[in-house]
Amino acid sequence: MFCSPKIVFSLALVYFCEIIHAVEYNELYSPHSEYTSNDILEDARLDTFSLIRKYGYNCEIHRVYTEDKYILEMHRIPSSKENAPVVFLQHGLLSSSAEWVLMTPGRGLAYILADAGYDVWMGNARGNTYSRRHTSLKPTSSAFWKFSWHEIGYYDLPAMIDYVLKETKVPKIQYIGFSQGTTVFWVLMSTRPEYNEKVAAMQALAPVAYIGNIKSPLIKAIAPFTNSLEIILKILGTNEILPNGKINELAGQKLCLEEAITQSICTNILFLICGFNADQLNTTMLPVVMGHTPAGASTRQLIHFGQLYKSNKFVQFDHGWLTNKRIYGTFKPPAYNLEAIKSPVFLHYADNDWLSTPKDVKKLAAKITSVVGTFRVPLAKFNHLDFVFAINATELIYDRVLNIMSQFKNQTSN
Ligand SMILES: *[C@@H]1O[C@H](CO)[C@@H](O)[C@H](O)[C@H]1NC(C)=O
Ligand SMILES: *[C@@H]1O[C@H](CO)[C@@H](O)[C@H](O)[C@H]1NC(C)=O
Ligand SMILES: *[C@@H]1O[C@H](CO)[C@@H](O)[C@H](O)[C@H]1NC(C)=O
Repeated sequence: MFCSPKIVFSLALVYFCEIIHAVEYNELYSPHSEYTSNDILEDARLDTFSLIRKYGYNCEIHRVYTEDKYILEMHRIPSSKENAPVVFLQHGLLSSSAEWVLMTPGRGLAYILADAGYDVWMGNARGNTYSRRHTSLKPTSSAFWKFSWHEIGYYDLPAMIDYVLKETKVPKIQYIGFSQGTTVFWVLMSTRPEYNEKVAAMQALAPVAYIGNIKSPLIKAIAPFTNSLEIILKILGTNEILPNGKINELAGQKLCLEEAITQSICTNILFLICGFNADQLNTTMLPVVMGHTPAGASTRQLIHFGQLYKSNKFVQFDHGWLTNKRIYGTFKPPAYNLEAIKSPVFLHYADNDWLSTPKDVKKLAAKITSVVGTFRVPLAKFNHLDFVFAINATELIYDRVLNIMSQFKNQTSN
């Protein structure tokens, strides 16, 4: 099929207009809920470190260098106790460490873990708000953005895990990944199996590997064009998608103020990628979420997901058959060897998740031999972003996660 950038762009525009249209007709009157204090709005522009300090928790910033010279920033909520068990959290696509603390203490998973006595370490993948540095490449160059989530799993994760083990001197960590934060874990464990020894247990929130049954309109829309890498890069403008910045922050605050009628619109755009569950979304927190998401990613991350959808396989990046042959030695990209995953894995999925569908999770569970448990969130409407942002996340999922984790505590402290 011949697809000029113009046609693709027009399609995207039509698509976008349809969303706005639907919103205007269906959700013009968003219910007015709680009072919005300036105090919460301030959270939209505080970085992860300042947010954590604002709410009275200690926070440390750590710099980690990867083998291929990216400089990553990690955030830690240290425990006040000696020998605290260590947990490592890895965020999802277009997100950052802020994801784990945005919902404030008592609600954000990082705080809940800290309150339960864990030494909490949060990773930041290359290319996001906190990890936009390299010893020689500048983020304004395309060379900087020449990575997908494969490189995040192959370079960033092992660098961060080794750093945490060295700093804390514990033999193993526990790992919690959300969405792409699980994808990169599968990549790491299948390409560098020796890292299985360093993870006592893995909690996969909304696991993503096989995505053939995905419902996300955005990824589906991109999938047909994944072979025309050049075209896509041109359409998307640069090598980076949706970086966060001042404009985004202002737009988020202006558009998403609770009083504003436009709030439902921005809700829909945000949820276009991830599914929708108005019941579990605290609208007061929307400006805060918008201030921190999207937090930057390379276009190749999205293209790689598009390729997975199209192929219905969990495989490495498809560069085109000539380059594939040079890099992989085969014309088609090789599949990740999920059988190499040996750390105990717990999968948590939800019925209304557009990215991590029950069908695909079942398929993944059958491929990873070290899956110990597969758990459905007991709420039919629970969707992808609810894993990190839901009003009832604690009783619906975090309680269970912490319960499972307590069995592995003794392996993750001194
Ligand atoms: C929504 O967020 C606000 C601000 O953090 C909080 O005061 C309120 O209790 C939250 N509502 C629910 C239902 O959790
Ligand atoms: C969510 O929590 C509130 C109180 O915090 C409760 O009234 C409500 O029933 C809960 N909803 C679900 C679906 O668990
Ligand atoms: C850790 O504790 C669990 C029970 O909570 C036990 O089964 C396991 O053998 C212990 N492991 C070590 C290394 O002590």
